[in-house]
Amino acid sequence: MTADLQKGRMGLRAWLLWFLALILSGKCSYSPEPDQQRTIPPGWVSLGRADPEEKLSLTFALRQQNLERLSELVQAVSDPSSPHYGKYLTLEDVAELVRPSPLTLLTVQKWLLAAGVWSCHSVTTQDFLTCWLSVRQAELLLSGAEFHHYVGGPAKTHVVRSPHSYQLPQGLAPHVDFVGGLHRFPPTSSLRQRPEPQVAGHMGLHLGVTPSVIRERYNLSAQDVGSGTSNNSQACAQFLEQYFHGSDLAEFMHLFGSNFAHQASVARVIGQQGRGRAGIEASLDVQYLMSAGANISTWVYSSPGRHEGQEPFLQWLLLLSNESVLPHVHTVSYGDDEDSLSSTYIQRVNTEFMKAAARGLTLLFASGDSGAGCWSTSGRHKFRPSFPASSPYVTTVGGTSFQNPFLVTNEIVDFISGGGFSNVFPRPSYQEEAVAQFLSSSPHLPPSSYYNASGRAYPDVAALSDGYWVVSNSVPIPWVSGTSASTPVFGGLLSLINEHRILSGRPPLGFLNPRLYQQHGEGLFDVTHGCHESCLNEEVEGQGFCSGPGWDPVTGWGTPNFPALLKILLNP
Ligand SMILES: *[C@@H]1O[C@H](CO)[C@@H](O)[C@H](O)[C@H]1NC(C)=O
Ligand SMILES: *[C@@H]1O[C@H](CO)[C@@H](O)[C@H](O)[C@H]1NC(C)=O
Ligand SMILES: *[C@@H]1O[C@H](CO)[C@@H](O)[C@H](O)[C@H]1NC(C)=O
Ligand SMILES: *[C@@H]1O[C@H](CO)[C@@H](O)[C@H](O)[C@H]1NC(C)=O
Ligand SMILES: *[C@@H]1O[C@H](CO)[C@@H](O)[C@H](O)[C@H]1NC(C)=O
Repeated sequence: MTADLQKGRMGLRAWLLWFLALILSGKCSYSPEPDQQRTIPPGWVSLGRADPEEKLSLTFALRQQNLERLSELVQAVSDPSSPHYGKYLTLEDVAELVRPSPLTLLTVQKWLLAAGVWSCHSVTTQDFLTCWLSVRQAELLLSGAEFHHYVGGPAKTHVVRSPHSYQLPQGLAPHVDFVGGLHRFPPTSSLRQRPEPQVAGHMGLHLGVTPSVIRERYNLSAQDVGSGTSNNSQACAQFLEQYFHGSDLAEFMHLFGSNFAHQASVARVIGQQGRGRAGIEASLDVQYLMSAGANISTWVYSSPGRHEGQEPFLQWLLLLSNESVLPHVHTVSYGDDEDSLSSTYIQRVNTEFMKAAARGLTLLFASGDSGAGCWSTSGRHKFRPSFPASSPYVTTVGGTSFQNPFLVTNEIVDFISGGGFSNVFPRPSYQEEAVAQFLSSSPHLPPSSYYNASGRAYPDVAALSDGYWVVSNSVPIPWVSGTSASTPVFGGLLSLINEHRILSGRPPLGFLNPRLYQQHGEGLFDVTHGCHESCLNEEVEGQGFCSGPGWDPVTGWGTPNFPALLKILLNP
């Protein structure tokens, strides 16, 4: 009996090895990301082929399990009318759910070991592997790939990328979603400095947006700051070797932070803070997250994993899946054209956002700085949605300007405010009513061939995005503009609301959208005036969508009126 069992087991093992050898022999292959754009972005140049013995790091996204169940759980914990509202999963719960099957783990491990790739790191959820390997090994494993050096971006970053697409053995198709570190270049910020508006100055006018202006406009009192008694925290993420300087933060608070309690420094920096010049984007994010979410402990993810060959955005996602205790609110000012990314990558990144939502993390993304965008394909124009802004599992923040740029007055659309409809994600149920209402009542809809009315529509909310003061490399810089500015401001305010929730024994807000749409944007100032930009052609004449009463794809539900928003978001 025992011998038989033993024999049976041996048989199984032999069979498994034979099976693995067969499926990994590379006779048949598949292309995980045939639709990934591989053109070199502007501002990057090739420095030629990488040496075969050079080391690089690649990230393997392994196939997860139980994604249907994950999406049900996200719905249950984010919907205030559900009995499970706020009953968030721990990272370990999420790992239990989505962890790849033993066959997936074994198959991928076997494939890597067979090529001599030993040095791999996994994350708590076991659904990513980051490995160090030589260019020669990588080109062997990923048939078709050819690694070259590139340099570019504001910090003259060096990366290794493949201009050719890669294929994997057919046997890996049920086990690997995609391989990261081959194609996508580090993101660039579209933040810009606009010319100073020309108006004759006189007393009582503000000359640009400062923390005082933000706090006045959004009705924050001196008491609306973190108490220091909760374990509340917030974070922003930086990519492309964008650094902030602690001394810039100190000078900024010295110049602009005298009338509200604030923290003097960042609580934790995760990743690498180079010694280079500060980036305006990084300075802006830190300075305004810490002025709106004043006196709240703040973390900065700084160019995580900037090793050659890696995708910093992907590395940030891996960090989220590898840390069980994280800040409740994360703001990210990064985006790509949805059409430039492979659908496999987009879907997988979206699943990562679901994992975060299940844990009660609030992820805020800038909606982009090109209005509805413009995309010319086969001689026709249409709008160009941006991702992650178009993900149904994040809260997307658009931008506004003051009606009078020198007075704290009503807000109108900032024409750059990114917004529109996804071509990848269908409209989620939480926004069904709001979007249908907009489509049936807007008097200025663009031609229907320009956008996909059935897609996830964004942004969800907005805040001022025009004319900020930022201190960067010890110099105060005026008129900095972009949804990169509105995003940390909105994030900071949500952190203040979390502070009240935590102190009254309630869970943090988590994924906000189901609740936001259920409450019809209550607590927000409805921006009803103005349109954002789009294609410069005769058909649309540079105009995208226009804002109006209620939700619209330019400013979402509007901008925060703190006391009202706190009231509506405090219970349950
Ligand atoms: C995840 O965290 C563990 C433990 O801290 C570490 O050993 C591992 O290298 C991390 N994984 C990655 C991909 O960085
Ligand atoms: C700000 O936070 C600190 C702890 O970090 C706390 O001691 C202080 O009382 C807080 N300030 C206000 C006004 O609540
Ligand atoms: C909560 O407090 C503990 C102990 O002070 C600290 O180690 C941890 O980092 C804090 N968590 C967050 C998310 O800030
Ligand atoms: C429109 O969006 C849906 C998802 O909502 C997608 O399946 C479809 O392919 C999109 N159409 C175009 C032309 O992009
Ligand atoms: C702040 O309060 C004032 C007075 O109630 C109101 O007019 C204004 O619209 C509020 N701000 C926002 C952003 O709603």
